[in-house]
Amino acid sequence: MDMGRIRCERLRGRVTTAQTAAEFIQNGMTIGMSGFGYAGDCKSVPFALADRARSEPIHLTVIASASLGHDIDKTLADAKITARRMPFQSDSGLRRMINAGSVMYSDLHLSEMVEQMRSGFLGQVDVAMIEATAITESGGIIPTTSVGASADFVSMAKHVIVEINLNMPEALEGMHDVYVPASRPFRQPIPLTSPEQRIGLPYIPVDPEKIVAIVFTQMNDSPAKVLPSDVETRAIAQHLNHFLLDEVRTGRLMPSLQPLQIGVGTLANSMLNAMAESPFSNLSMYSEILQDSTVELLDAERLTFASACAISLTSSIQQRFLDEIERYKAKLVFRPQEISNHPEVIRRLGVVAINTALECDIYGNVNSTHVGGTHMMNGIGGSGDYARNAHLSIFVTKSNAKNGDISSIVPMVSHVDHTEHDVDIIVTEHGVADLRGLAPRERAVRIIENCASLLYRESLRDYFKRASANGGQTPHMIEYAHDWHASYRDSGSMRSASLVGNEAV
Ligand code: COA
Repeated sequence: MDMGRIRCERLRGRVTTAQTAAEFIQNGMTIGMSGFGYAGDCKSVPFALADRARSEPIHLTVIASASLGHDIDKTLADAKITARRMPFQSDSGLRRMINAGSVMYSDLHLSEMVEQMRSGFLGQVDVAMIEATAITESGGIIPTTSVGASADFVSMAKHVIVEINLNMPEALEGMHDVYVPASRPFRQPIPLTSPEQRIGLPYIPVDPEKIVAIVFTQMNDSPAKVLPSDVETRAIAQHLNHFLLDEVRTGRLMPSLQPLQIGVGTLANSMLNAMAESPFSNLSMYSEILQDSTVELLDAERLTFASACAISLTSSIQQRFLDEIERYKAKLVFRPQEISNHPEVIRRLGVVAINTALECDIYGNVNSTHVGGTHMMNGIGGSGDYARNAHLSIFVTKSNAKNGDISSIVPMVSHVDHTEHDVDIIVTEHGVADLRGLAPRERAVRIIENCASLLYRESLRDYFKRASANGGQTPHMIEYAHDWHASYRDSGSMRSASLVGNEAV
């Protein structure tokens, strides 16, 4: 215990155990938990709650900022605590329960969730559970590696539980910029005109009376799970760099580009890594979550500043980041997800958004979330916030998955997260489809010829040719449009259907 981290003396008496803190959470409640992309989640009270659920029924609505680390989602789901979950997750155990229909999952745009809570659409938050590095003299909560939706959970909740994590250096103080828009009709424009600007408080303000329990923990964030680049990933990155270079040559972008947003996962992380080999310099980021690649680029002095709402790192980079926090502090800011993902700011800054698709169709609609149109992978996260409002909305994907049994370019996506109207550029290992200004029939040719896997390209050409014979602005053979998905579901491969469906016409 380090009581010095509770600078508000009257709160020191509220230090307790995780078990006692968990008693504030009762069956039927809604809890709002800090934690975004494995960063800054509470690492003790959720487990005490799961222990209690062995002897009494506890079913909750669990709202976190986004995904949680330390198997918290799995633990809560296995204990049958999570009856309803929102707005994003990436846990394989919880995913199984969502897809089995035993957990109700509400997959929301991350910028919008808080607004929906404020508007009363999502019910009352009973208890907020927030990880902190310290508590200020006035009772303010200094977050750790994420801000996410914590400020709003705190302001809306009746009770607040704080976990002070002693592994998080106190030097994190000053990295956060907590700005909460005023309620309507008093709402003003968000006064943010560049990624490095600070417009809010370095802590989450709270009425100290709401803090009912403070628990000490000492544990790092779960390490991010990011795979190394492979041949295809490197090819995608090369195509992307060439495309951006052309934008600079034609004067549509400056050599420092415009603030970058990079999505989640292995592929997205590799895209930013590859910027180290690009001619671009003085880059900046206005993103949702920062990964290893951000730290590497800051160290290589290719990136001058990064703004996000969380940082999720693999073990070795996480340790470097925590050990040398003072060095990174001048170059990073963590904001609420409502601000990092806000359409107004994204549009104003002209963000270049790079997100990952599970699949795209020949017209440029993108599915980021549903395998085979039915089974949830993670969720839309912030990809929709950025894709809709970016200066350039880029989606990257390998042209096929599962050793070629799945084509990532399909006749019609089985679920739409980003409509063709929100997708400017698609990049696979085969090349770039620049869709700006094109009509659907032109988009189809460009996507098939530049991006589709060679295993499926001929079938896609054939589908498009036959569909076009029926006419239409966006030609389809509706009766066959999802044959490839049905074939993958039934036989484990799209390959046979990609020919059979076409031949049957
Ligand atoms: N159909 C079915 N499965 C597919 C697929 C498709 N069309 N394309 C890829 N997959 C599978 C892969 O084979 C892999 O399976 P595995 O886990 O069994 O190996 C899995 O999907 C993940 O693919 P991977 O290439 O490892 O992806 P990634 O780590 O780069 O993440 C997303 C890709 C789409 C899952 C991830 O970016 C995501 O959740 N995006 C939505 C949210 C988002 O974009 N947020 C960003 C806002 S900042």
